[in-house]
Amino acid sequence: MIHPVIMAGGTGSRLWPLSRQLNPKQFLKLTDGPLSMLQATVERLQGMDAKEPLLICNEEHRFLAAEQMRQSGHDNTRIILEPCGRNTAPAIALAALELMENTSEANPIMLVLAADHLIKNTSAFQEGVSKAIPLAQQGKVVTFGIVPQHPETGYGYIHQGEELADNCFTVDKFVEKPDLETAEAYLACGEYLWNSGMFLFRAQDYLNELEAHRPDILAACKAAMSGASEDLHFTRVNAEAFARCPSDSIDFAVMEKTDKAAVVALDAGWSDIGSWSALWDVSEKDAAGNSLSGDVIAHDTQNTLVRADSRLVATVGVENLVVIETKDALLVAHKDRVQEVKSIVEQIRDDG
Ligand code: GDD
Ligand code: MG
Repeated sequence: MIHPVIMAGGTGSRLWPLSRQLNPKQFLKLTDGPLSMLQATVERLQGMDAKEPLLICNEEHRFLAAEQMRQSGHDNTRIILEPCGRNTAPAIALAALELMENTSEANPIMLVLAADHLIKNTSAFQEGVSKAIPLAQQGKVVTFGIVPQHPETGYGYIHQGEELADNCFTVDKFVEKPDLETAEAYLACGEYLWNSGMFLFRAQDYLNELEAHRPDILAACKAAMSGASEDLHFTRVNAEAFARCPSDSIDFAVMEKTDKAAVVALDAGWSDIGSWSALWDVSEKDAAGNSLSGDVIAHDTQNTLVRADSRLVATVGVENLVVIETKDALLVAHKDRVQEVKSIVEQIRDDG
């Protein structure tokens, strides 16, 4: 039996102005269906031999998270609340400590998922998870790898080693977010996979790896959990102790350093909708390559994403644009420059 752990503490700032501090990406409905990204993540587990998911998110999103879980029929989901963001290595450590403490199993298997990924083929995803379970039972720290399509610098890269089983490999090298030149070389080499950011391992194995490579993070997380308080189904970690925890991702803290990594290659229509152009990539488009939602008139317009939330939006004679209209902010950007939306958010924060 596996324990799904859903990480939902990111800010999704490249999807501004839709994704906001109080309503970030994972809680939004970004693709066509009726579910938020978090709800779609939960839905994807249907039919698996899995326990109730464990959610971990920022304290300020507790009601949003609890309400979305309730709507999905998960009234009793335990939600660990972080008083501040310390990135994924600590978040996963808190979840591992919670599971070690509160399950009857000696070393529960955790399936760590991001709350903001799109996976088109659920059965291929579930099949990949099944392949990873025996590896985790042997003490491997398993990640799921995706065949790369372009030299993306926002992802981790996995150099696959010897084949352990069908589509399962050892990891020769894990490189988190390489520069463009390196990413291009990895793509050309053909032996690298993207890290999907989903993981499977036994809770104690992860804690041991953290102890080996980042004992400072583990110690801070243990202190934060031992001072935790519970109300309803929320676990509030000790704010002072957690504030002292260094911030780092599982990718830098563990995956780049461990010699226990294994990878299951996944072909499941995975994408991390990290930016507006990535959303355009996976959206249904009309004959002119436009993805339009809301009240939109696109005249002589090509390869453009327009999203109108509160007003009529019209475009004339433009191409390769992203136009996102919300009640209080409007974004117009070239589709090739959408990564820079993040800096707008930083500017707003600095000014604010
Ligand atoms: N609870 C909690 N607390 N969750 C967090 C925190 C935190 O402090 N920080 C991030 N998360 C959640 C995000 O909401 C997201 O679901 C997931 O953890 C991954 O965080 P991102 O910030 O989106 O990571 P990334 O996209 O830059 O990189 C990761 O994912 C890539 C694939 O999408 C890495 O694992 C890369 O190696 C990978 O390629
Ligand atoms: Mg991400």
